[in-house]
Amino acid sequence: MTQEQPGAHLEALLRWRRDVRHFRTDPVPETEMEHLFACAQLAPSVGNAQPWRFLRVRTPALRTALADHVDAAAQQAGARYGTGERGALYASLKLHGLREAPEIVAVFSDESPDEGHALGIATMPEALRYSTVLAIHTMWLTAQSRGIGLGWVSILEPGFVAELLGAPANWHFIALLCVGYPVAQHEVPELERRGWQARQDWRVHVSER
Ligand SMILES: Cc1cc2nc3c(=O)[nH]c(=O)nc-3n(C[C@H](O)[C@H](O)[C@H](O)COP(=O)(O)O)c2cc1C
Repeated sequence: MTQEQPGAHLEALLRWRRDVRHFRTDPVPETEMEHLFACAQLAPSVGNAQPWRFLRVRTPALRTALADHVDAAAQQAGARYGTGERGALYASLKLHGLREAPEIVAVFSDESPDEGHALGIATMPEALRYSTVLAIHTMWLTAQSRGIGLGWVSILEPGFVAELLGAPANWHFIALLCVGYPVAQHEVPELERRGWQARQDWRVHVSER
């Protein structure tokens, strides 16, 4: 009998992690949500500053305001694709699950955290934001490993969302996340399946000097 390779599990996780827009409406148990936040906390961060700030949106009126805002922003953004084939394809895409996902989480990055004592950010303050993105990815993979879907929404005005949610002035908006059980699991990204953009061969993105 051959021993199972943990690397194979990781690769499967990477291959099957999807950005999810089609959610079932049944709730994600609170213990699962806590697990996602706890695992996100394991992400690396500059100076160990742990600048990620997760804000759970639990007020129905706020969820509706966010969904309306993103729908309007998505419609506006669609103008660039015109009325041809690409425009029609864009109009047919589902670009968020804000109305039906059982959990909505806004993610901010603290621009001046006490933790980390500013280590590593003298010349690259943006390293704080990169750290927060890593926490999101950690949460994304954790969710996938437990059959939970996550969808990243960025078609919005960050300032509007920050103000709507009453975020402190030193929190920089990073992402709006929809979390819930996916209607279906897919190995191929939705945008690839829909003919918008395929994943490229990795060789295209590696160069040498
Ligand atoms: C920073 C970022 C912003 C994104 N914003 C959106 C978005 O607003 N709406 C959407 O439907 N998908 C969004 N996505 C998901 C991408 O479309 C998706 O990751 C990509 O098509 C590859 O698919 P996969 O994540 O399933 O592999 C975003 C992803 C990232 C990383």
